[in-house]
Amino acid sequence: MSMSVSDCTQGRDGFPRPFPNTPNNVTEQLKVTGKVVVVTGSADGIGYAVAEAMAEGNANVAMWYNSNDAAIAKSEALAKTHGVKTASYRVDVSDPDQVVKAISDVIKDFGRIDVFVANAGMAISKPILEQTLDEYRKQMSVNGKDRFKGSSLVSRANMLKRQPVDGVVLCAKYIGEVFKKQGSGNLIITSSMSAQIVNVPTDQPVYNASKAFVTHFGKSLAREWREFARVNIVSPGFFDTKMGASPETVNEAYRMSSVGRQGHVKEIKGLYLYLASDASTYMTGSDVVIDGGYTLP
Ligand SMILES: NC(=O)c1ccc[n+]([C@@H]2O[C@H](COP(=O)([O-])OP(=O)(O)OC[C@H]3O[C@@H](n4cnc5c(N)ncnc54)[C@H](OP(=O)(O)O)[C@@H]3O)[C@@H](O)[C@H]2O)c1
Repeated sequence: MSMSVSDCTQGRDGFPRPFPNTPNNVTEQLKVTGKVVVVTGSADGIGYAVAEAMAEGNANVAMWYNSNDAAIAKSEALAKTHGVKTASYRVDVSDPDQVVKAISDVIKDFGRIDVFVANAGMAISKPILEQTLDEYRKQMSVNGKDRFKGSSLVSRANMLKRQPVDGVVLCAKYIGEVFKKQGSGNLIITSSMSAQIVNVPTDQPVYNASKAFVTHFGKSLAREWREFARVNIVSPGFFDTKMGASPETVNEAYRMSSVGRQGHVKEIKGLYLYLASDASTYMTGSDVVIDGGYTLP
């Protein structure tokens, strides 16, 4: 950053950088043929739609799942249908050892990782005055199971030392090392419109705040990794998944969005494909809201 007009007349070594060597034709730019894409939380919902989009675009896909082993059959079906290479990996993204091992397994199986979609997430939508501390900690670790059940006091204390919103932080930390080594990479984080607004009528301050963390973390990484990788954030409104609007609140979700409905997951595929492709080479640090106009008023 220049502090004065005379400062900013000084050229910087290596600037301006060259334009990327990408095709001029936009449909060529949108091709992800041969890229290796990891998608976390990909057994169902938004994550599966992203995995499907990548396979449809001829990318090779590593599908990470936590508890839903439907990912195994879905990954095999994607390979068969689209003639791409796929594989599935069981990974709890809040466990650093599992994240490190899974990244290394994907590199062993696919040779490299071009795009990493940190999509896994979870919500326990309750007011803070009704939420237990264990529920708070589960959300901050992005942990879908009761990690404390049956654990000793010592191991429980060690678990609590883990960083908040562990899933995204751990995936970013360890995939960042790979991107730096490769000299290139592309991280896409699934956050939420709840990072920017306070949802109504459900009070869910912890979920909202965990997504605000994830969004700002992603923007900060875009700068930190400027020499070797792009980082962008997708902030969905209500989509028709297990985690979408609950039955009690779905009418409000229809009323609040300008288009009068929840999103179908097929409607988010194009955005992830764009961000994964060379059509978005000038985008980094962006937070793209896709919410049917929910956050307009
Ligand atoms: N749907 C919406 O309206 C909406 C709106 C805004 C943001 N989002 C965000 O979109 C993302 C995907 O959610 P979704 O709507 O598609 O709901 P979903 O189908 O419930 O997906 C959540 C995914 O997160 C995975 N997950 C949870 N804890 C995990 C852990 N510890 N380790 C690894 N994976 C874990 C789950 O894996 P398993 O099933 O294999 O356990 C599941 O695939 C989430 O980050 C969510 O916050 C959704």
